[in-house]
Amino acid sequence: MFTKRFLALVNLKTNRKDAARGERLARLAVRQIMDLQPDHVLLTGDFSNMALASEFELARDVLAPLWDHKRLSVVPGNHDYYTRDSTRIRLFERYFGHLIWGVPPNSSTYPGIKTIAPGVVLLLFRSTHYLPGILSFGWISRDQIDRARAAVNALNPEFAIAAFHHNLHKRGLMVELTGRMLYREQLKQQLLDLGVNLVLTGHDHHHLEYVVSHGNRSMQVIGSGSTTLATKGHIPNFTVLDLDTKHPKKPLQIKVFSYDPAKDEFHEGNG
Ligand SMILES: [Fe+2]
Repeated sequence: MFTKRFLALVNLKTNRKDAARGERLARLAVRQIMDLQPDHVLLTGDFSNMALASEFELARDVLAPLWDHKRLSVVPGNHDYYTRDSTRIRLFERYFGHLIWGVPPNSSTYPGIKTIAPGVVLLLFRSTHYLPGILSFGWISRDQIDRARAAVNALNPEFAIAAFHHNLHKRGLMVELTGRMLYREQLKQQLLDLGVNLVLTGHDHHHLEYVVSHGNRSMQVIGSGSTTLATKGHIPNFTVLDLDTKHPKKPLQIKVFSYDPAKDEFHEGNG
């Protein structure tokens, strides 16, 4: 059984026109997350805009207080594979791979598999691929699903969490045409078949939560809103999850912390 504040869910997507503000919000969020003392923190990708080493270095600096394999997990976003070269040399993994596979690395393939608490397994999938131009479609390969199945069978977790960047829900026409998760209905079924209890995603900049069910299986899906994107109609936020596996029907308490510019802090509530 596991009952604790266990996960803060952060999406660092920022706006390249207002990078300084994004960085300030990210540093503030990290400070407040440290104060909340989560057992684990997950970042759902898009650490960068153009997959530049300088952007990854800045992200590493911002995340320094959390920078530990046991405390922090990451998945790559489409912006982190923005160029063919950075994808080819696995630049994202050079900076963040130890947060996925440990030190020394237990693997170099996705999904990363981490036991983050007794009986709680986190599967870190890669939905991101290098694609030219404005295309940012996501998909998760059959190999990754097969490796996840083998891990779940071996570990037999009480609670399994799948994390990847691309969202599973339908969004606006432009994203549907250029950047949706491909084969998402098939993927939902594969995750249900794996026995996944919780899916955590990024990509969409708004927080959302819903349940996917089929037959006698269901899983909670939570999309983390952007913590650093402060554009019209968007309030920066992060999500905190409390997990209590003693209550299998409702094991999760979901809290959203939104940025209040008047107080210059994140506080619980939707803004
Ligand atoms: Fe994205």
